[in-house]
Amino acid sequence: MAEQSLAIVTIDGPGGVGKSTIARILAERLAFTYLDTGAMYRAIAYSLAAQGKNVQDLSEDATLVHSLQALELDLLPPLPGEEHSRVRLDGAVLGVELRSEEMGRQASAVSALAPVRRVLTSMQQAIGASGNIVAEGRDTGTVVFPQAAWKFFLDATPEERAKRRIRQLRAHGKEVDEAALLENLIARDQADRNRTIAPLRPADDARLVDTTHVGIAELVELMLAHIQAHPL
Ligand code: DC
Repeated sequence: MAEQSLAIVTIDGPGGVGKSTIARILAERLAFTYLDTGAMYRAIAYSLAAQGKNVQDLSEDATLVHSLQALELDLLPPLPGEEHSRVRLDGAVLGVELRSEEMGRQASAVSALAPVRRVLTSMQQAIGASGNIVAEGRDTGTVVFPQAAWKFFLDATPEERAKRRIRQLRAHGKEVDEAALLENLIARDQADRNRTIAPLRPADDARLVDTTHVGIAELVELMLAHIQAHPL
């Protein structure tokens, strides 16, 4: 018998496609909780880097699961005017520290480790256990919430995604090396798509949307219409 669908929206796709903006707006419109899974991977990467650990050492660290399970990790809503969730990790609140390109790169590297995925996936499943969640990430439709009722996979060309990220960074007054950003984005996509565990890919039952020429407002309406057309 097929598993029963849960009132969960999953939004997966590569970096810079606009998942966070869209997920936050949809969560507000549906009165669901926004689950930013990328922020959790970034927080783990931040914590491991702060302890001076690198991915090579970690892949051979038999105690990693236990130390990850012992972490107290809570997602906090974005501050007003901010895009991304903050993370409380063992009492410290992490926000802007998680948002650099370098931290994105480190999160991608750490996210390929089986113990990291196992621990974060089960935390995410606990958060979404009773539904009413808009989850965004790379594997939310395939691995974390296979029983989600509404699954989307958003994509856009690397150049368009780089442009969106540059616009966002400039809006926050940050300086941007455009060529390096595009290169980092493409490298991160490749790593996320080609890893062995939970690679970035659309779920078989996901609605694929090429957003290259679609604006935010139009995309939100398109997704809401899809949700309304497919009630639980
Ligand atoms: O969405 P983001 O840029 O905050 O994600 C940072 C990295 O975390 C991304 O490159 C891969 C990893 N990630 C993942 O492997 N699975 C998720 N569900 C979310 C993020």
